[in-house]
Amino acid sequence: MAQVVLDRVNKVYPNGFQAVSELSLDIEDGEFLVLVGPSGCGKSTALRMIAGLEEISGGELRIGDRVVNDVEPKDRDIAMVFQNYALYPHMTVYDNIGFALKLAGTPKAEMDKRIREASRILELDDNLQRKPGQLSGGQRQRVAMGRAIVRQPSAFLMDEPLSNLDAKLRVQMRAEIAGLQRDLGVTTFYVTHDQVEAMTMGDRVAVIKDGVLQQVDTPQNLYDHPNNVFVAAFIGSPSMNLYEATLELADGGGYLLLGSSSLWLSDGVIDARPGLRDHAGARIVAGIRPEDLEDAALRTDIADDQTITADVRLIEALGSELMVHFQLDATAVDSGDPDAEAVATDGAPTVGRFDPRSRVTIGDTIKVAVDTTRIHFFDTDSRLAMDTR
Ligand SMILES: Nc1ncnc2c1ncn2[C@@H]1O[C@H](COP(=O)(O)OP(=O)(O)OP(=O)(O)O)[C@@H](O)[C@H]1O
Ligand SMILES: [Mg+2]
Repeated sequence: MAQVVLDRVNKVYPNGFQAVSELSLDIEDGEFLVLVGPSGCGKSTALRMIAGLEEISGGELRIGDRVVNDVEPKDRDIAMVFQNYALYPHMTVYDNIGFALKLAGTPKAEMDKRIREASRILELDDNLQRKPGQLSGGQRQRVAMGRAIVRQPSAFLMDEPLSNLDAKLRVQMRAEIAGLQRDLGVTTFYVTHDQVEAMTMGDRVAVIKDGVLQQVDTPQNLYDHPNNVFVAAFIGSPSMNLYEATLELADGGGYLLLGSSSLWLSDGVIDARPGLRDHAGARIVAGIRPEDLEDAALRTDIADDQTITADVRLIEALGSELMVHFQLDATAVDSGDPDAEAVATDGAPTVGRFDPRSRVTIGDTIKVAVDTTRIHFFDTDSRLAMDTR
């Protein structure tokens, strides 16, 4: 097992395109690190450089205490699991799992021991004599994992290994892989475009956009303290609502102007965000997570200056909560995620997660309570957070 370190790693493809820029990551020994970002942002390129399948254009890659920039893939002591498991269809599960060991000339008894151990862990014991065609998608995925496990590598590299599975199986395998990784304690670098997968599996999550690392932190810290507008919108589902806003200072606090709505922020709230007071009077970006919005009719304790008024457009009843979509007469802010929907120009579409006891209906003009202590603020030009930390 080993630490994997990327030190200002670059990738420029032969056509001149820079897919990864100055990427620095420290994957600790035994850690499960997930790299997440929109399609085409350089995730697979980064992983393939670690694997040795893609040349590194600049910077340094270390596995354990070795610099491996120029080390052959087979000598890097890593095992990969891909999206299409690339199993050999004519071989049994047993032979598929043992294939790399056989190539490496591992003694038969040792090979058998490792294959049986891996298949026990993966609960494939009863399927060892079957061919891949006779297995379910989840079982095939486990065979692919088995092939990686038996090699007892210093690190696992996984590139969207669950994307070929249906939604239900994906959730199940997500938990299985995370649990397995914890048991084995093998340093793991895992790539996905799915932020839920990233959040649920990673010890830490690294968010990347256009080849540039945006933030790396624990899932909860990423959620609570996004560094910038992109991370704020990318992490969390439904996404954080983002608006153009202005703060006007007043005695004891200030008013946050969002379109024609104005929200009172106490001095405490303003001072908890370094930099916010300096932005008074200037255009800023305000972000509100859906769970920090609630039907004001359910709240007896709420002051009028803690609410906004909006028109209900759509309601999704999920049983445990209502996703209420409404239109705010403010200006929405583009998150910079190429995969996200285009920003509307006729007001700001907003999502609130309401308590299912809410009785709002489509077409209503309602008051929405805002938890003003939890609003996120960003600089309009740099798009960096004025954070509570
Ligand atoms: N051989 C190549 N030559 C030039 N550009 C390439 C090459 N391979 C990939 N790219 C470009 O590099 C960028 C990053 O590609 P990469 O495959 O790393 O993205 P990704 O984050 O894995 O995307 P996805 O989520 O779709 O798998 C993309 O814009 C891609 O078009
Ligand atoms: Mg990819």
